[in-house]
Amino acid sequence: MKKKVLSIMMATAMIATLMMGCGNKETPASAPAADTPAAETPAAEPEADTEAPAADAQEPAADSGSLADKKVGVCIYQFSDNFMTLFRTELENYLIAQGFSKDNIKIVDGANDQATQSGQIDNFIAEGVDVLIINPVNSSSAETITDKVVAANIPLVYINREPGEDEEKRWADNDWNVTYVGCDARQSGTFQGEMIVDLGLEKVDMNGNGKVDYIMVEGDPENVDAQYRTEFSVKALTDAGLEVECLSDQVGNWQQDQAQAIVANALAQYGNDVEVVFCNNDAMALGALQAIEAAGRTVGTDIYLVGVDALSEALENVLAGTMTGTVFNDHFSQSHSAADAAINYLTGAGNEHYIGCDYVKVTQDKAQEVLDMVK
Ligand code: GAL
Repeated sequence: MKKKVLSIMMATAMIATLMMGCGNKETPASAPAADTPAAETPAAEPEADTEAPAADAQEPAADSGSLADKKVGVCIYQFSDNFMTLFRTELENYLIAQGFSKDNIKIVDGANDQATQSGQIDNFIAEGVDVLIINPVNSSSAETITDKVVAANIPLVYINREPGEDEEKRWADNDWNVTYVGCDARQSGTFQGEMIVDLGLEKVDMNGNGKVDYIMVEGDPENVDAQYRTEFSVKALTDAGLEVECLSDQVGNWQQDQAQAIVANALAQYGNDVEVVFCNNDAMALGALQAIEAAGRTVGTDIYLVGVDALSEALENVLAGTMTGTVFNDHFSQSHSAADAAINYLTGAGNEHYIGCDYVKVTQDKAQEVLDMVK
């Protein structure tokens, strides 16, 4: 995966600086929409020596007319997704704070169905929106989506579900006004694993077999976030020299109820051998917690549980000790960067083809700070 991580400057009085557990590196965490200026994103740098035949570069998307007149189409893969609800709410607020009119921002629900979303994109093209922000249902549909949006000469900002490397290369090769905004899911997986490593094998290896026995609850398997979190959470353990035993690895599709059933079954099957529950997101960790409590187990005492996203409810559990930790998936930074990228296309400033952001590790000592920020 090509990672041209840019520094995303979110200079504002509301910025809090959080210390990342990894290498004590400092990372800026962004603030809610109000009073936050648009981030500056450097103009796109086309890659040299590309093989694909260069199509005509897209024309500059717009003059620098008033943003209040610009129409923004936003496609979300599924409104019922907790994290994407935070994301789209913040995105809309921030777009309005930057000068777009609420009436000109249309956000639609793909209902987790690519055909539905493709129809919505066709409608946006027919309506003549000035810019599109798309959270694809299937990342593998990005090529088709890009082709029709580019053909309509509409700039495109992908969010949350990263298209493949080949697809991103086409944007650069053809100098298209297409970019992706998101975090590197490998980092979130690594942070999850590190939170378990930091507890120490003595504490985690309750059955005394010398290994960390875990169950994994995955999000949508087509999604690179799910793939990387699954891989890198375990890799952090093995990189630290720990032996691991995977008792169960199942798909919960980011959903709390599915995770609850998966973890309830795994606990019934493996009982006290389950030492750690890794969930690819917090919604599923909350479902896992219900199953853990129903099985009479106690997080922090006889089992450990980690998620990703830093949903308020998960942060409250981390504070209370009923979740071991989570990872802040910064929806402020990502939604602001996506809006800023849209603005950069509209003003003709352009963007890099990849705009990254950092995750933040959240254990009990950090939970209140992050909760204050997300609430
Ligand atoms: C992830 C997030 C999940 C889910 C998913 C949707 O980044 O952690 O909770 O929202 O995106 O693609």
